[in-house]
Amino acid sequence: MNTVTQELSLYLEDEAATESFGRALAALVRQGGQGLTVFLEGNLGTGKTTLSRGVMRGLGHDGAVKSPTYTIVEPYEHLTPPAYHFDLYRLGDPEELEYMGIRDYFQGRNLCLIEWPERGQGILPAADLWIRLDVSGEGRSALVSAATSRGMELQARLGAMHSPDQEG
Ligand SMILES: Nc1ncnc2c1ncn2[C@@H]1O[C@H](COP(=O)(O)OP(=O)(O)OP(=O)(O)O)[C@@H](O)[C@H]1O
Ligand SMILES: [Mg+2]
Repeated sequence: MNTVTQELSLYLEDEAATESFGRALAALVRQGGQGLTVFLEGNLGTGKTTLSRGVMRGLGHDGAVKSPTYTIVEPYEHLTPPAYHFDLYRLGDPEELEYMGIRDYFQGRNLCLIEWPERGQGILPAADLWIRLDVSGEGRSALVSAATSRGMELQARLGAMHSPDQEG
């Protein structure tokens, strides 16, 4: 199992805040040369796709970003870094991920965002970052946990960007 060493807790007051959080993550990912795997956890309708949309837009994608519920993965290979958005909600068996060559996605500089990662348990590689979203009042709470040194570095930078004294 992964060891969670620290957690960052954020409040996202509306859809725009969820999207900006995704853009902030994208800005940090662009700076580094390493790949990143992010698990997006949370119930139906908690903002996982909205956050993913923010990330893709932050990486320069202009078009639509819809959850690939039926196709499992949507590639955004034209971006830097190349990004892949997974939604495992409809996955029947984690073994299906083996058949689609899941390991090939998690290499190089690639950024992989995965909704419903628990459905791929045992086959998915470990995440660098986990983002847990929950409904909280009118908005959403986000709990960011890091499991690798790469994840911890990004988490610390996200925390610095969202510290109260930097909010305007
Ligand atoms: N911070 C927020 N505050 C309030 N509403 C939000 C927030 N972030 C996203 N939403 C809204 O929540 C709804 C569901 O968002 P989204 O589709 O991103 O959820 P999801 O977690 O991907 O759901 P699913 O599990 O079905 O894929 C959308 O209407 C979106 O506008
Ligand atoms: Mg979704």
